[in-house]
Amino acid sequence: SGDRSDSRGALVVLEGLDRCGKTTQSNKLHKYLEGLGHSAELWRFPDRTTSVGQMISSYLSNQSQLDDRAIHLLFSANRWEKRTLMESKLKSGTTIIVDRYSYSGVAFSSAKGLDMDWCKAPEIGLLAPDLVLYLEIPPEKAAERGGYGGERYEHLEFQKKVSKSYQALHDASWKVINFSFVDMALKKL
Ligand code: TMP
Repeated sequence: SGDRSDSRGALVVLEGLDRCGKTTQSNKLHKYLEGLGHSAELWRFPDRTTSVGQMISSYLSNQSQLDDRAIHLLFSANRWEKRTLMESKLKSGTTIIVDRYSYSGVAFSSAKGLDMDWCKAPEIGLLAPDLVLYLEIPPEKAAERGGYGGERYEHLEFQKKVSKSYQALHDASWKVINFSFVDMALKKL
């Protein structure tokens, strides 16, 4: 139709608990879109390659301690520092699949007891996703999968709280994909 939005790429966000299968699914979606001939990139947050990202990484691996609000703002800053690039890629027609975004920021920090509205505030003004895919898995099931890498948040009790926070954030626009469906689909491949 010549509408400018037709040529814009889509911002697709995958969310879920640690070990829910997001990374595997993001990779598959990326390959699938490329296979269809779309220009697509796979991003992830935290982006550990920047200097802010390195501070986050060191916090997650327990090599440094930070105030809960300070680390929350670093996670947000890590998205802000990529905003301009994200916008120009989308405008030029590249679809971006993002493994975690603002919802992770709010879900994980509010699971520590921080006020949810306070957690949301620094995310205001970041680009809104066109699609949010939530990979739903019971926290016990995710823990059973093994391979919790020993990072700061990878504990069953904390993941249960994160799961509750995600439930509070969840709105009707999210597409929820149940883990048993993903397992089934993977077996067929
Ligand atoms: P990753 O395992 O996907 O790299 O994410 C690292 C951890 O950081 C994971 O436990 C989720 C958490 N996280 C936050 O607490 N806030 C955020 O804004 C993001 C993107 C991740």
